[in-house]
Amino acid sequence: MKRTVVITGASRGLGLALAKQFVALGDTVFGISRTRKHWPAAKKAVPSNRFTLLSGDLTSEQTVKALLARIRRKAGSIDILINNAGYSAPLASVEKVPLQEFREYFKQNLETAFLMCKYAIPEMKKQSWALIINVSSMAGVRAVPRLAAYSASKSGVIALSQAVAKENAQTGLQCITVCPGGMNTEMRKSLFGAEDAARQQTADFVANVIARITEGKIEVLSGGHIIIRHSKITGIFPPPAP
Ligand SMILES: NC(=O)c1ccc[n+]([C@@H]2O[C@H](COP(=O)([O-])OP(=O)(O)OC[C@H]3O[C@@H](n4cnc5c(N)ncnc54)[C@H](OP(=O)(O)O)[C@@H]3O)[C@@H](O)[C@H]2O)c1
Repeated sequence: MKRTVVITGASRGLGLALAKQFVALGDTVFGISRTRKHWPAAKKAVPSNRFTLLSGDLTSEQTVKALLARIRRKAGSIDILINNAGYSAPLASVEKVPLQEFREYFKQNLETAFLMCKYAIPEMKKQSWALIINVSSMAGVRAVPRLAAYSASKSGVIALSQAVAKENAQTGLQCITVCPGGMNTEMRKSLFGAEDAARQQTADFVANVIARITEGKIEVLSGGHIIIRHSKITGIFPPPAP
């Protein structure tokens, strides 16, 4: 079965690793990134005419609507949406985080996923099968010191998925959350340095687990979340009772 997959934050890191996995499965992938800065490397890493990159800042409601409309015009329907785009700023304790930065975390990590869900759900829920995967973090399950705003925004992502799953329980649309531990990407490097990043699991490992979930090889119930740490699946949690 060939599917249409939309991946946000697909120009590098986990998003690009996901694009690689889904293209290898024969799917058609639309990747979205804020800038075109990493496109040449991304296109080299996934050299396929089934991988299209689109640019747009997903904090803008108009941009989200326009991107989804453009993808639907090209692909018809979206089978899998992966809200992966994410943001982090330098480590700081709560008393040192400016309010503006706290808000930026919520805008970048939670509002973007909310907007994509808001405008993708009306069509996706009409389909016999569709899946939304929201990428949170281990930090969303257990907060990391000096990353309070990041952790709180990622807890919000888990709650968003649970609500979407419950609201659409009578439809073909399912929604789950993936919570990776540290991965060897630019985000990790910018937070904890290159040496630390090199010790983390690869984005390819996490992307492979996500691809296997979409194939039904790993079961995560709608509303549930999966934790992937140190190159292992360390927990799969069912959704809370309705
Ligand atoms: N790395 C880790 O250790 C780790 C651990 C747990 C969870 N996560 C989560 O996993 C996800 C992927 O992380 P990563 O490490 O792969 O991140 P990354 O290397 O920093 O890549 C982030 C991607 O998101 C895009 N993006 C950021 N803001 C955007 C916006 N407003 N609109 C559209 N695209 C936007 C970036 O595009 P541009 O390059 O154009 O800005 C880039 O493609 C994130 O949600 C992150 O929070 C990461």
